[in-house]
Amino acid sequence: MTVEIDHNLEEIRRFRPSPEFAAQSIAGPELAEAAAADRLGFWADQARELLTWSKPFTKTLDWSNPPFATWFEDGELNVAANCLDRHVENGLGDRVAIHWEGEPGDSRAITYAQLTDEVKRAANTLESLGVADGDRVAIYMPLVPEAIVAMLACARIGAIHSVVFGGFSSDSLASRIDDAQAKLVITADGGYRKGKVFPLKPTVDEAVAKTAGSVEHVLVVRRGENEVGWVADRDLWWHDSVATASNEHVAPAFGAEHPLFILYTSGTTGKPKGILHTSGGYLTQAAFTHKNVFDLHPERDVYWSTADVGWITGHTYVVYGPLANAATTVVYEGTPDSPHPGRWWEIIEKYGVTIFYAAPTAIRSFMKQGRAIPQSFNLRSLRLLGSVGEPINPEAWVWYRHVIGGGSIPVVDTWWQTETGAIMISALPGITDLKPGSAQTPIPGVSIDIVDDSGTPVDDTNGGLLVVTEPWPSMLRGIWGDPERFKETYWEKFGDKYFAGDGARRDEDGDIWLLGRVDDVMNVSGHRLSTTEIESSLVAHPYTAEAAVVGAADETTGQAVVAFVILKESQKAHAADVAATSEELRAHVARQIGAIARPRQVFIVPELPKTRSGKIMRRLLRDLAEGRQVGDTTTLADTSIMEVIEAQLVK
Ligand code: WT7
Repeated sequence: MTVEIDHNLEEIRRFRPSPEFAAQSIAGPELAEAAAADRLGFWADQARELLTWSKPFTKTLDWSNPPFATWFEDGELNVAANCLDRHVENGLGDRVAIHWEGEPGDSRAITYAQLTDEVKRAANTLESLGVADGDRVAIYMPLVPEAIVAMLACARIGAIHSVVFGGFSSDSLASRIDDAQAKLVITADGGYRKGKVFPLKPTVDEAVAKTAGSVEHVLVVRRGENEVGWVADRDLWWHDSVATASNEHVAPAFGAEHPLFILYTSGTTGKPKGILHTSGGYLTQAAFTHKNVFDLHPERDVYWSTADVGWITGHTYVVYGPLANAATTVVYEGTPDSPHPGRWWEIIEKYGVTIFYAAPTAIRSFMKQGRAIPQSFNLRSLRLLGSVGEPINPEAWVWYRHVIGGGSIPVVDTWWQTETGAIMISALPGITDLKPGSAQTPIPGVSIDIVDDSGTPVDDTNGGLLVVTEPWPSMLRGIWGDPERFKETYWEKFGDKYFAGDGARRDEDGDIWLLGRVDDVMNVSGHRLSTTEIESSLVAHPYTAEAAVVGAADETTGQAVVAFVILKESQKAHAADVAATSEELRAHVARQIGAIARPRQVFIVPELPKTRSGKIMRRLLRDLAEGRQVGDTTTLADTSIMEVIEAQLVK
């Protein structure tokens, strides 16, 4: 079959699940029917069916004090035991939990029995370091099995993990350690990326030196074999401590609302928010969506999500969902193109991956390189593809289905957020007629609406703001240490409805299309960045008087960071060498926040477009950054300013 890749905005193709796929599908129409008939009863059934409770719950939801919800509150469980011990007890100890592949090509297969053992040892080590129930542990690691062991060891003893992506800078790590008052940092000497060892321990040393002093110990995994500094009495090697600890550890039961983790994400202000997730509800929705959205048959599937554990996708769909469901998962340390551009496809062939979950930005960059690379590998094991992190354009969706998926397997586009904890909108692959470019339908038990600015549901197809109208099990329980900000950010706008920050519309069939963020949050390669945070970083540089940052459309990364900077009067000489100056500012942002925040371009300008009240009109800067005719400038204090800036840009 040949596919026409058209560029029509109106996407009209539909792909019905094949009869073979539908016949073996885990999810059937009864899920949505049950949820519609009794939403809370439906979630209670899922929680009982998917998880093992040490003490059964009697209450499902308490929403008497909105926006603070509790789910399954009087129930007790141990999250790690749900991901490990119970599978071993059920005779699955020899099943591979993790097929780990290092970037240089070294690999490890870890069974459920081995993983359980290792987590028990790590739990004993953490306890011997004085880490107790409720304490915070920062995890700053490459994507090695020990990162997952560390998360599960925290969960096992009731400590709250805060995983910080290994690409973040020492400043970013320090502010996250301080905000959560972490007692322990778990890291590695280094990890592999793009064919080289990138050091992590030196960044931790720098970060800890900048903190207010909460860190008592640093536990270090040896991976990169790079030289590292050592602080006696504070630092410990994993292979000295965890490897020699006892593998006997009884998992205590914790309340369903016991905090499981904090994960920092960018908001509309400069300071990242520590999103708090708890245990029973989170694990219920993680397991439910992982099973039904990915049609998981744990006895035969090999599942691979390419996400890093530093992001929410890594938490829910690398660690907690798959392990709760006793799945076999692939975990890959490195970048997609190291040491060659077919690395991902080679891994799919090597492990016989059946379910594959990745981000549109990666798909688009593979599209650019052409189909010859993936087609030189055997990808016939694949039977389901997933997409996450940003809207997937229909062209990329169709390419993904045909070139990677062989043309007949389902592609599910999953919408969710760090805050929602688990998938909220997605097709169910055995049931839904798929529509490229649309995330389609709320999952059973999740209530979504699209409203106008005053909160009234919109009934035309023009779109509005996406809201969640009822609490859901894996919802964030708050922002660490800042209940006011939690209320303000998500609930103040519409009272009892959760404001997601995304624009969306429904089509004639009722399918949902995501239209991007409506706030000052950018989405670069599926990662969230705050315009304000990058502006603050630029302004902290000695050259800068003022800065404005916009997310400009980018063919590969979805959006790209583009900055406009006014130099201080005393620094104006630097305007003579624009290339060097903008490179210095780009590098500065990468140093301060992390390489993911490095602007694609920094323009040195004499002025910024402002309204009479002094608000920067980012819309006009976005027009420039995207190479468009500049829009309406009549509300500018000085209407000639855009010409001045434009003249500067083409110089
Ligand atoms: C934001 C959340 C969910 C894990 C990865 C990102 C955007 C996410 C989709 C999708 C359109 C999407 C939204 C959302 N987003 N998935 N399938 N279609 N947009 O998590 O860093 O918390 O970012 O990512 O704008 O608000 P995150």
